[in-house]
Amino acid sequence: MTSTMLPPAAPAPTPTAPAPLPAILGTYKRQAPLFVRGEGVYMIDETGKRYLDFVAGIAVTSLGHNDPGVNAAVQDALSAGLIHTSNLYRTAPGEALAQWFVDHSFASSVFYANSGAEANEGAFKFARRWARSTELPAKHEIIAVRGSFHGRMPGTLAATDRPAYRLPFRPLMGGVSIVERDLAELRAVLDPDTAAAVIVEPIQGEGGVRVVEPEFLHGLRALTRERNVLLILDEIQCGLGRTGSFFAYEQLGIEPDMLTIAKPLANGLPIGAILVNDKVARVMQPGDHGTTFGGGPLLANVAHHVVQRLSDPALLQHVREVGAWFGAQLQGIADRTGAVRAIRGKGLMWGMDVHEPAGAIIARAFDRGLLMVSAGEHTLRFLPPLVISQAELAAGLAMLEASITG
Ligand SMILES: Cc1ncc(COP(=O)(O)O)c(C=O)c1O
Repeated sequence: MTSTMLPPAAPAPTPTAPAPLPAILGTYKRQAPLFVRGEGVYMIDETGKRYLDFVAGIAVTSLGHNDPGVNAAVQDALSAGLIHTSNLYRTAPGEALAQWFVDHSFASSVFYANSGAEANEGAFKFARRWARSTELPAKHEIIAVRGSFHGRMPGTLAATDRPAYRLPFRPLMGGVSIVERDLAELRAVLDPDTAAAVIVEPIQGEGGVRVVEPEFLHGLRALTRERNVLLILDEIQCGLGRTGSFFAYEQLGIEPDMLTIAKPLANGLPIGAILVNDKVARVMQPGDHGTTFGGGPLLANVAHHVVQRLSDPALLQHVREVGAWFGAQLQGIADRTGAVRAIRGKGLMWGMDVHEPAGAIIARAFDRGLLMVSAGEHTLRFLPPLVISQAELAAGLAMLEASITG
């Protein structure tokens, strides 16, 4: 009798369980330690390890962590018992902050937002609202330039020159395009009948810390005036003292029609703003735009304190002086190590192109106790708190050089 027995069946593959999901959605690769405290230019993890902060929450905590003045401004607002009222009502901190900007800038009026992207999205709407008032029916286009980053929302993403950020989310907002950072090209595309606004960062942060040429910005200001198109400057990363003047545009001798700010405005509390000139302010009517939280009394009270500190001439001089010194030290590292392709920047906003992937250097620096962030795959970006001392910068530079060489 021949056996009809079948060979034993292979064991059924055990289904591999999907990796556990992080409670916070995985849109960021977060570093492992749990940060529990801040102290000036240091962040401290749960084991007590101190990290020198060359990131400042990505250009946000310009006055450092646990600043007594910022803490007092928070306490002061809390003691009034009014954290939020909505924009249906007037509050003293909101009015004082707006008046401060009117007194210290080109602006006639201010709209409060909650983030950089929201400020830019609002500026795009304001540009279209203004364009409607010109009675040119096709005037609506928003134009951004190569290397730009203006945010992650449908309008601002359409104006952001990062294919990896944009492609999964198409279609983005229509009527938004990106052109070369070149005056001849802009002269060719800027049609007064269709273009509403051009938006530019005076220093492109996420795009690799690229200082936009002053000649380009002067030419762009003249061209946008000639073609009856608004100029929006995005100073969300480079503004509020970071480049050594309170607004970056002050160093250029031009004034925009709108300016957007956010990041350091309340040293870490979420607030953004759109500063607008007379021309734009006059067309905006009740109901044209809105936001629930924007410029609430707690946020505005802190921001009012912060803008006075960040516009202090002594602080701005400090930024210019230590910034120039820092740039020269970065050059020294480039000369000594041969690991660097280029250095760019101004004030306390610098980028360093490295041959190695920036992430590898950032990881080694992290182990040594230095926090850094990249701006593209091969660019290290330096955005320390503006109150950092030269000695603290020197300590960070030593960790940086050691991390570059191994
Ligand atoms: C120049 C610029 N614009 C806009 C944004 C968007 O700001 P937020 O992340 O607050 O939306 C950023 C953020 O990095 C920025 O650097």
